[in-house]
Amino acid sequence: MPANAKLPIVIKFSHVVTPDTPKGKAANYFAQRAAELTEGAVSVEVFPNSTLYKDKDEIQALQLGAVQMLAPSLAKLTQLGIHEFEVFDLPYLFDDIQTLHRVTEGWLGANLLGRLETKGVKGLAFWDNGFKSFSANRPLHDLPSFKGLRIRIQPSKVLEAQIRTLGAQPSALPFSGTYQALRTGFIDGAENPHSNFFTQKIYEVQKHIVLTNHGYLGYAVIANKRFWDNLPARIRYQLTQAIGEATEYANRIAQEENDQALQKIKATGKTRIYTLSAAERAELRRAMLATHAKMAPYIGQSVVNAVYEETG
Ligand code: LMR
Repeated sequence: MPANAKLPIVIKFSHVVTPDTPKGKAANYFAQRAAELTEGAVSVEVFPNSTLYKDKDEIQALQLGAVQMLAPSLAKLTQLGIHEFEVFDLPYLFDDIQTLHRVTEGWLGANLLGRLETKGVKGLAFWDNGFKSFSANRPLHDLPSFKGLRIRIQPSKVLEAQIRTLGAQPSALPFSGTYQALRTGFIDGAENPHSNFFTQKIYEVQKHIVLTNHGYLGYAVIANKRFWDNLPARIRYQLTQAIGEATEYANRIAQEENDQALQKIKATGKTRIYTLSAAERAELRRAMLATHAKMAPYIGQSVVNAVYEETG
């Protein structure tokens, strides 16, 4: 090795889900493409499953520079004091992923990512997971069945309001503590896309899942801004390309991963999967839609309106 050879630039990339989820796979794919495109000048070390940091700590760790990259769910960006990302938590905001992409892949998505810079965070991309279902130990077919249930949510005021529209009690807990909280009965239910339900073994602790598709769960790929800005321009260019490829990959596999996860949950035979009738769906939707008007002033009416315009 020549005397002036530099060690690779190390990027610690922390996340909270397992490696076999859409985000886990995309993070590993990014690591592989980053090594290839930079010809080994960058080594991305991925720490899955909250092994390095849990939800809240990981965002602080990024700001302090203890890790260089993360992909937290959009709900969790609110911990930076930027509530606009909670717009994505509004129930029944997007009819499908294509409509959602009009926001995340357009000017509005870029504008939202840009707002992170004041917090020392560089927003790089949006990665999909998918639409959420609810789980519990009782069948959830109508509004009364939600009454009084303690449901785990991510730390988001919008999700809190959404749960209250159902007559249930929100409980904001770290992702890593959810299984245990369900097992011990500290909480009664949860919401997540099926890939998270399956990989967190929800079928061991929840007897029922109702296919509501009521809200979107996706991620922002973010970096410590100082770290990112100080990278050699050539490396930054190559990493941007690796992120672009990983984004394309993440958004291509997410739906299929969630469909397969649902089949795997079914195959355990431990959790009943319920499809709502049109009338049941309409009842839950009507109740949860009240979240929009209630939370728009908190999120920022102009951001909510902009999303309506892009998706309407
Ligand atoms: C959750 O906390 O439920 C999710 O944000 C976990 C994740 O990162 O998918």
